[in-house]
Amino acid sequence: MKVTKKKSLYTLAVLASFIAVLYSCSKDQAVEPEKPGNEEVTAENVSYSNFAGALFQTKCAGCHAAGGGASGRWTFSGFASVRDNGARINNVVLVTGTMPVGGSLSANEKALLKAWFDRNMPEQ
Ligand code: HEC
Repeated sequence: MKVTKKKSLYTLAVLASFIAVLYSCSKDQAVEPEKPGNEEVTAENVSYSNFAGALFQTKCAGCHAAGGGASGRWTFSGFASVRDNGARINNVVLVTGTMPVGGSLSANEKALLKAWFDRNMPEQ
């Protein structure tokens, strides 16, 4: 009787830590491409609305939105503010790699961002 109880407690503990691991993975900070409908975001269909906008919002707006510390150099305020500064943004993120300050983009995020620039920055 005692042994069985210990065993089930052990099983519970294993289950709980497994769930904890799953939960921490799902809270990953990387920007995952959104899926409009069932369509996966790829280098062929990447757009501002399915990927790039969320990336700038999460990785850049902290410093570059109106009132932010670096808004004097470039103010992020939606699609036009990115399109009109596309060359500078491409340069600091993908060429020199100086942005984002204090953070980084995953290889997948960089590849999709490059594809978005290569597609001439479509909004949709
Ligand atoms: C932690 C704050 C911070 C974050 C996050 C950040 N930046 Fe910056 N950014 C700065 C600062 C500070 C400067 C001014 C750097 C300088 O004067 O050399 C700057 C400058 C720039 C410039 C102007 C470069 C030029 O040509 O003058 C651009 C464009 C830019 N950042 C884009 C981005 C993008 C895109 C992201 C997100 C991927 C980003 N930044 C994230 C702080 C930040």
